Amino acid sequence: MVKEEKWSRLQDKIYEAYMQRTPKSKQMYKRALTNLAGGVCGHARLFQPYPLYMTHGIESKIWDVDTNEYIDCFLNAGSLLLGHSHPEVIKEIRQESGKGLLVYNSDLEVRCAERLKEVIPCAERVRFANSGTEAVMFAVRVAREFTGKNKIIKFYGHYHGQDDQFLIGTSTNEDEVISSGVPQDSLTNTVLLRYNFIEDVVRKLDEDDDIAGIILDPQMSMGGIFPASIEYLKKLRRLSEERGVVLIFDEVITGFRLALGGAQEYFGVTPDLACYSKSIAGGAKFAAFMGKEEIMERLVPDGFSAYTGGGKSVFQSGTYNDGMAAIAGALAAIKVYKKLSEKGEYEKLHKRTANLAKAIEIAFKERRIGCQVNCLGASLKIFLTDLEPSFETYCKLDRMVLFLFFLSLINHGIILSWPSSGSIFLSFVHTDEDNEKIIEAVNLSLEKYRFEEAI
Ligand SMILES: Cc1ncc(COP(=O)(O)O)c(C=O)c1O
Repeated sequence: MVKEEKWSRLQDKIYEAYMQRTPKSKQMYKRALTNLAGGVCGHARLFQPYPLYMTHGIESKIWDVDTNEYIDCFLNAGSLLLGHSHPEVIKEIRQESGKGLLVYNSDLEVRCAERLKEVIPCAERVRFANSGTEAVMFAVRVAREFTGKNKIIKFYGHYHGQDDQFLIGTSTNEDEVISSGVPQDSLTNTVLLRYNFIEDVVRKLDEDDDIAGIILDPQMSMGGIFPASIEYLKKLRRLSEERGVVLIFDEVITGFRLALGGAQEYFGVTPDLACYSKSIAGGAKFAAFMGKEEIMERLVPDGFSAYTGGGKSVFQSGTYNDGMAAIAGALAAIKVYKKLSEKGEYEKLHKRTANLAKAIEIAFKERRIGCQVNCLGASLKIFLTDLEPSFETYCKLDRMVLFLFFLSLINHGIILSWPSSGSIFLSFVHTDEDNEKIIEAVNLSLEKYRFEEAI
């Protein structure tokens, strides 16, 4: 039987089991298609044959409209580091939002900024926003004003949200723009380089004197979790200081996940600016960007303009920057993270994640399927290959195999990853028992669908 035929048989079997298990999701999809564009609220939510529709989540579990229970290791793209519905986060949100949903310039905001300053090394000054995308947009705007330059170095395999200027080379090593509707002009100030090759950055800075900043996701989440060496990050730090270029860590995923003080604490390298969202508010919609006082002060209007709101400072605004629910969520979540850090829970979470990675690798290898699981902190990525995994290998892999594997696990009550994504995350509320159930399902699925015969 030719490979394509084997694949299509495997796909048919997995789709069939999925459809049997999730008839209400199918109905909901049909209904959603007539009102939500594509039936979902975001590109990444969609997968074939139709996506799951969910009702609620508690701790490490989430339930779909068919009342199926899942262990959730996608956690809304890693946001739910405290799991679903963390009681302290929910309590604080209820309490504070009862005082008003949009109380501008609230004492809560000031307290939240103080808490962030306490734990994030670069946070001399903070501003709030509503999404990772916004935090990144504002950070690069400030960097441009601070340096008087225009271009931003971005690396292949790094995703920085939805602003047109960064929708290129996000999960590939090619200059691929991942969306239509992006004007070529909006990419003219984006410089794409290979990650972890310091000589590329040196060369670019030598030949181009219009570089304002360098932005990176320290764990290269989208590109398969190939973090840079500490040496590289240190060199980047030194280089950006010498050349007057603003170094920006996009900590939207790594913030609080990799360590209480994020990747900057974990790697011991302090950037000029950092962007936060996802875990920062325990699942509430919130974001922040922060950094060195001399750079962040460019957001402050001077003289008379301070009273009229005008002036020449960097403009940053947002009606919902004062959202009480979000800020309350952040205050509660940061308090919990601090306690967890003091109790040594980060080390335990990272160990649990590494154990899961190892067990998944073994399950595949026992069936003679080449597999490596990249793992950093509480994030994972699976590679099905016999080749030495590298970002270049990752870019060439056929992602269909993994897509079907993730879908097959849904049939066993495990959302190891949202099938269209591939990113896997654990939270502080995942247990060793959850790990055991995940591994049991991985083995069951590999056994039942005999992936080795189709590869
Ligand atoms: C590293 C990184 N930066 C920025 C973003 C964008 O965040 P948001 O989806 O909140 O706009 C994401 C989202 O996944 C991300 O992973």
